[in-house]
Amino acid sequence: MSKLRVGLLFGGRSVEHEVSLASASSIHQALDPARYEITLIAVDREGRWRLGNPGLPPEATLRGEVVNLPAAPGERTLVSSGPGPLEPASQLDVIFPIVHGRGGEDGSLQGLLELADVPYVGSGVLGSALQMDKETAKRLLQAAGLPVLPWVLIRPVDLRRNAEAAAELALREIGLPLFVKPANQGSSVGISRVSKPEELLPAVREAARYDSKIICERGVDAREIEVALLGIDPLEASLPGEIRTRHEFYDYEAKYVDEATELLVPAPLDPEQTRRVQSLAIRAMQVLEGEGLGRADFLLECETGEFFVNEVNSLPGFTDVSMYPRLWEASGLAYPALLDRLIELALERHRTRSEFETVYRRS
Ligand SMILES: Nc1ncnc2c1ncn2[C@@H]1O[C@H](COP(=O)(O)OP(=O)(O)O)[C@@H](O)[C@H]1O
Ligand SMILES: [Mg+2]
Repeated sequence: MSKLRVGLLFGGRSVEHEVSLASASSIHQALDPARYEITLIAVDREGRWRLGNPGLPPEATLRGEVVNLPAAPGERTLVSSGPGPLEPASQLDVIFPIVHGRGGEDGSLQGLLELADVPYVGSGVLGSALQMDKETAKRLLQAAGLPVLPWVLIRPVDLRRNAEAAAELALREIGLPLFVKPANQGSSVGISRVSKPEELLPAVREAARYDSKIICERGVDAREIEVALLGIDPLEASLPGEIRTRHEFYDYEAKYVDEATELLVPAPLDPEQTRRVQSLAIRAMQVLEGEGLGRADFLLECETGEFFVNEVNSLPGFTDVSMYPRLWEASGLAYPALLDRLIELALERHRTRSEFETVYRRS
């Protein structure tokens, strides 16, 4: 049987560029070379796609030849974009996008892959966009009756017109402490915990550096519980995991720098809590139209013992020591088998979508 040609797409124009490189490196090492022919494609800091050379690691790909994926169905071919005629550079059967953040996780990349008609791992356009936008996600989760923390939205126009009034309203509605977040960002970038009124405006201005929608959300003293999800219909939930950090919250340093941050797999929860959080995770991913993979993150409020859905990530960190693969490992699915399953799901999803009618016929 010929090998499946997998394009591993990573990097990107976001603050999570390095995280993506680390994830791609782990995936690259774990994909079975007997089953897959792997093409590395790095999205550089300017957003150009660069082609790797077989045998060279993901980092070296950033210096590779510039290529494009034409949005023409049926081709599935990367073409070189140098001067002269377009040369086919590499053919693909499926793309494994591991580009975090804006441009990778927000539906835009998925849109290109849809137009090019290439099967790809993970959520589609809508699911990716919904999971990326924390504010839209919260509105949908709330409408579906899932527990989310109360929030108010601040927009640039509110800041321009009367920043003090906007801050005043957030303080009145939400109280302290509160968390200020850009709606479309990841890795805790641009997020602040506000415990004094005078900290609020600077925090909002900091968040405004990253996005035009800013959330002010009630801050809780909570344990952080995460559940990995896999599948399309049905979706399966892993055992939950827990994050313990020495930091005031799970900020960028705690995520990627501080080695004292602990990932407890599985989380010390009683069977009832485990069932509850798994069922909330599945519902949250369904509400946000997630497909393939996702990681649902919860805040378990210490005082009340209540779970709140914090967010669902359509492309969670994917190094072999990241929470997502570790949760599946603990649930009986090893890292290489997890990758196989994700690729199968991508092909399945593409097959299903290709079967829909594109011409109206009277029945
Ligand atoms: N409402 C909240 N109450 C308490 N801690 C919070 C709250 N919101 C966020 N945090 C803390 O900030 C971290 C990052 O926030 P999150 O919304 O998950 O953004 P990101 O997408 O950047 O991970 C969380 O993991 C948690 O530690
Ligand atoms: Mg988070």
